[in-house]
Amino acid sequence: MCGIVGVLGSGSIAGSIVDALKRLEYRGYDSAGVATLENGKLERRRAEGKLKNLEAKLAAAPLLGSIGIGHTRWATHGKPTETNAHPHASRGLAVVHNGIIENFKALREELAAKGYAFATQTDSEIAAFVVEDELAKGKSPAEAVHAGLKRLRGAFALVYLFEGENNLLIGARQGAPLAVGYGDGEMYLGSDALALAPFTDRVAYLEEGDWVVVRREGADIRDASGKPVQRRIQRSPAGSLLAEKGNYRHFMAKEIHEQPEVVGHTLAHYVDMAAMRLKPFAWPVDPKTLGRISIVGCGTAYFAGLVGKYWIERFARLPVEIDVASECRYREAPVERNGLTIVISQSGETADTLASLRYVKDNGSKTVGVVNVPTSSIARLTDAAAPTLAGPEIGVASTKAFTCQLAAMACLAISLGRARGAIDEAREAALLAELVLTPGLLAEALKLEPAAETVAHAIARARDVLYLGRGTAYPLALEGALKLKELSYIHAEGYPAGELKHGPIALIDEAMPVIVIAPRDAVFEKTVSNMQEVAARGGRLVLIGEKHAAEEAAVAIEHVLAMPDMGANFAPIVYAAPIQMLAYHTAVIMGKDADQPRNLAKSVTVE
Ligand code: AGP
Repeated sequence: MCGIVGVLGSGSIAGSIVDALKRLEYRGYDSAGVATLENGKLERRRAEGKLKNLEAKLAAAPLLGSIGIGHTRWATHGKPTETNAHPHASRGLAVVHNGIIENFKALREELAAKGYAFATQTDSEIAAFVVEDELAKGKSPAEAVHAGLKRLRGAFALVYLFEGENNLLIGARQGAPLAVGYGDGEMYLGSDALALAPFTDRVAYLEEGDWVVVRREGADIRDASGKPVQRRIQRSPAGSLLAEKGNYRHFMAKEIHEQPEVVGHTLAHYVDMAAMRLKPFAWPVDPKTLGRISIVGCGTAYFAGLVGKYWIERFARLPVEIDVASECRYREAPVERNGLTIVISQSGETADTLASLRYVKDNGSKTVGVVNVPTSSIARLTDAAAPTLAGPEIGVASTKAFTCQLAAMACLAISLGRARGAIDEAREAALLAELVLTPGLLAEALKLEPAAETVAHAIARARDVLYLGRGTAYPLALEGALKLKELSYIHAEGYPAGELKHGPIALIDEAMPVIVIAPRDAVFEKTVSNMQEVAARGGRLVLIGEKHAAEEAAVAIEHVLAMPDMGANFAPIVYAAPIQMLAYHTAVIMGKDADQPRNLAKSVTVE
């Protein structure tokens, strides 16, 4: 993940910016840079590799300005070179960027046609030119940024510095975090409170869609429409910085909202965003030699594997066998010598999963680990790593790890499809173009939180809840039920919607909420008929689907969580957000501990 810092100081601030960037090194990076105003003129120093290389450049050619921006870059578009390092500049401004601008190709063509000359392969340069394009229409810097933001799509945070404006920084949050730091006659912007700790412990966090005009006198925070808004200024004492919850009441809530950013970073690990094709993946066995693939995991990780099964079988035409890890070795699952097993685990320490890994390895299988903790036992034991870049997940209930597992599984499925000739280059590009939209769609889906809270009030009084889904929405039904169970302690069950008539329909009554997960996919109409069966028996329907789905269903639906329109292939990544928010708010309404549910541990290191 990239790191952002902005400082409106009273003396030379380049060195302070680098110190702040050092506190963001935990986010991972491969180049860095600083831009300041020197007598009103923009000056930049940028370097490939670690911050010490940037410090060497600053020692050789110091920057003395009292206003500036800095950045540690984790390359997504374009190689980690000095040219691609931030801050990026255009005539009269510089910008630092964290996240992914999805529509950068279309904007690049539009701006190139207007004569803008691109110096880099990055999407971030677009963020500079779009605002310059608005300035050229006679807008003020604030108006230009506000207008420019409306032209950008994706999940990102930005900070702008303008030539000749020695008392102005403008920041924006759209799917990636940005905090405002309040000093005495100085002001700051940063990716998180950790970056701002050298300057201040008074911090306010921008909310989704906010942008902010910062001067030494203070911050003018606006929402996406431009309306002034207040964001609470809180003390962020140094001790809590590493385990900060930011604006959120629980880590789980924070981690739900981190998903656009971390899913974007996980995708960028596998996808060359500029070329829109997969980066090479070192399979430990030639996928063309495989007759099938096995997948093992526990709990939410198992459900991610179940979605992965659908994707691998669809895109690679390869049969997949999936096991709950605690069953795998005890049923003495036959293991193919030189076959392939994908092991999924957030912690990388789950005893059942680790034991299954050892079992399949002892029986000759090659292994790939989809793991969030690269130093964990499972990560170290597997033959190849397929990491999730969710960052530390503190909440016991898995949220951002789940969607990052899905993102990794989607890339692995497409990679297998290419390696086995089941999909061609054009289909790979089309699938990836759809997949890279998911971070922005997640940011859209997170705006449903107030509606999810309303539905949670209805669920909180229920004794039992049924989740239904078809196709890749079926594992989501299982995950939704698990989330509700483990957070609110309400009994819940996930079921394939097509199984309703084979038993569960006997459960339907006016007391039990039935939550139907229905993206607009090939089986959507079938799911609509299941909803009609529930409604005909007086059942209480909650639909998680696209807005017009409810109208098309033409049945009495108690609540609709209206999802953004999207392609169906990767809907599980986006539809995970409402089921997580539903479970979280139900738990909060019921006074349960959303971060530490009773009887549960974050990593089950015993059988
Ligand atoms: C998820 O919300 C649960 N806390 C639990 O099912 C978890 O997914 C499971 O224990 C597997 O953990 P792992 O991913 O760390 O292996």
